Amino acid sequence: MQILRDLPALRAAIAALKSDGKTLALVPTMGALHDGHMALVEEARRHGRHVVVSIFVNPRQFGPNEDLDAYPRREAKDAQLLQTAGVDILWAPSVEVMYPAGYATNIRVSGVSEGLDGAARPGHFDGVATVVTKLFNQVAPDVAIFGEKDYQQLAVIRRMVADTNLDIEIIGMPTQRAEDGLALSSRNAYLSEQERKDALALPRALGEAKRQIEKGEPVEAALAKAIATLATHGFDPIDYVTLCDADSLEPIATLDRPARLLGAAKLGKTRLIDNIAVDPA
Ligand code: PAJ
Repeated sequence: MQILRDLPALRAAIAALKSDGKTLALVPTMGALHDGHMALVEEARRHGRHVVVSIFVNPRQFGPNEDLDAYPRREAKDAQLLQTAGVDILWAPSVEVMYPAGYATNIRVSGVSEGLDGAARPGHFDGVATVVTKLFNQVAPDVAIFGEKDYQQLAVIRRMVADTNLDIEIIGMPTQRAEDGLALSSRNAYLSEQERKDALALPRALGEAKRQIEKGEPVEAALAKAIATLATHGFDPIDYVTLCDADSLEPIATLDRPARLLGAAKLGKTRLIDNIAVDPA
């Protein structure tokens, strides 16, 4: 595996990889890799694709009071994992390579970026859309793989790719979970032992609300119950627990189409998100 940090080297390595005519897959990450990320890498490798994984902790998607400085950085361990997984290139640019002096362009996706995490984290999805556009232009992959763990992010990227006519297939992978059901996340490393136990209330509350809504109980009551459960387990603030159209992410009040139940809340200093499919009978 080659570890590359500047654009000319990346472009040369990618041209060499592509010369055999096989397709190229990109897995964008911010590092501190876990089994959720590695499931994306495994999917990337299917069909004999070449694989580029990027690790870049993107300052533009962190708000002023968020965890940019504290975000876990473990590049040596990550590189080992990726090497063992058969990745061809680790693309690990510095902030100066990604955003050189004078950098001035922002990519904003309207609509799907605006509610949920877009409302709770102003500017977050602009930062994501901007860096992912740049990664797509740097690597020029045929396929890019993202996790459903960040369901709104996946929707934003699908919209951005469709709107800008990028010829890149976007694959969404199911959320990988710990045995007890907590979605794997680099941020789980921040949780104390007690918080790790309380964190389980998030997938459980979403699962319980899904069952109630699919049984035909009123959406509003099911969401209120989930919010109460989270509050009981110490989540504060609870940014949202919302049932949305599975594609547009518009909030919906009745289960009349494929839907997604999404939740985000803070436990101590750690903000956790999760989501689950809710399907009409
Ligand atoms: P990061 O949080 O490192 O996640 C990288 C990719 O791994 C994302 O597509 C995310 O959805 C996926 N992922 C994380 N946890 C997962 C899990 N438990 N199961 C399945 N997939 C999971 O998301 C980002 O980085 C950044 O916003 C990025 C897209 C790299 C842009 O900076």
